[in-house]
Amino acid sequence: ERSSTKQKNMMSNKGGARIVVDDDDEHVSPTDLSELLADGTKESHDRAENCSFVKDFLRGRIKRELFKRGTAALYFVYTAMEEEMEKNKDHPHVAPIYFPVELHRSEALARDLEYFYGEDWENQISLSAGTKPYVDRIREVGQKDPVLLVAHSYTRYMGDLSGGQILKKVAQRALKLPSTGEGVNFYQFEGIHSHRGFKQLYRSRMNELDLDMETKLRIVEESNRAFGFNMMVFSELEEIGKSIQEEVQEPGLGHSHAEVMQGG
Ligand code: HEM
Repeated sequence: ERSSTKQKNMMSNKGGARIVVDDDDEHVSPTDLSELLADGTKESHDRAENCSFVKDFLRGRIKRELFKRGTAALYFVYTAMEEEMEKNKDHPHVAPIYFPVELHRSEALARDLEYFYGEDWENQISLSAGTKPYVDRIREVGQKDPVLLVAHSYTRYMGDLSGGQILKKVAQRALKLPSTGEGVNFYQFEGIHSHRGFKQLYRSRMNELDLDMETKLRIVEESNRAFGFNMMVFSELEEIGKSIQEEVQEPGLGHSHAEVMQGG
């Protein structure tokens, strides 16, 4: 399971038993933002992991059309998030967690969309009703309350760095995408060599932000809202999926939940 109060690595021996390796020698305090976020979004995370769209995806049950639409949704979300981060990059609560080279995803998403939709991709996609509230909220926060951008970046980037490799493989296998990475550039962070190391750096940067408790708790609340927006996107995709006639290819090639949870 996803650890909250400490960063732990789940490993599995041959017999399948789990060994918990506690790998943080740095001090963690329950009032650190990284800890408040991990604890305070645990339920949201459980809900997100257990919604049917996400579970189906993990099992390799994903239709190409839905994957394309999901990629388009992420494109709108990351474009908004990265533009708002850019506008606020000198803000003292944003600057320490501003990592455009390492984290930016909108260009990778644009390449994925070009792969799926062709050169004219920009005219083929549109902001869906289920994605618009998410994008609107990011814009609002960027304009009125930039400290809450911390919540939006945390929710997406830390998640991407945690489960991305598995999701990439699942998508490649289920959709028969080329092993060269076309279509799944989103999952490939070219500027990050150690996901775990980068997550530790990101956590420590969040913890160094000069924030009072009230603001930290507002960030946790905003992260829970961000999880909710992500669930809205998933539910919309799931609904669309019901009306699409498309074969899901070869069931049984997905990853089991247990296997994924060891991915860290
Ligand atoms: C962290 C699994 C979906 C956001 C993690 C970690 C795992 C994981 C194994 C690492 C925990 C650690 O380092 O201690 C999964 C699985 C998912 C899923 C199996 C289902 C496909 C999501 C979604 C979001 C998300 C949909 C939000 C959009 C996060 C965040 C973290 C995280 C923010 C960092 C937690 C922290 O250390 O503070 N996830 N996740 N995850 N995930 Fe997910």
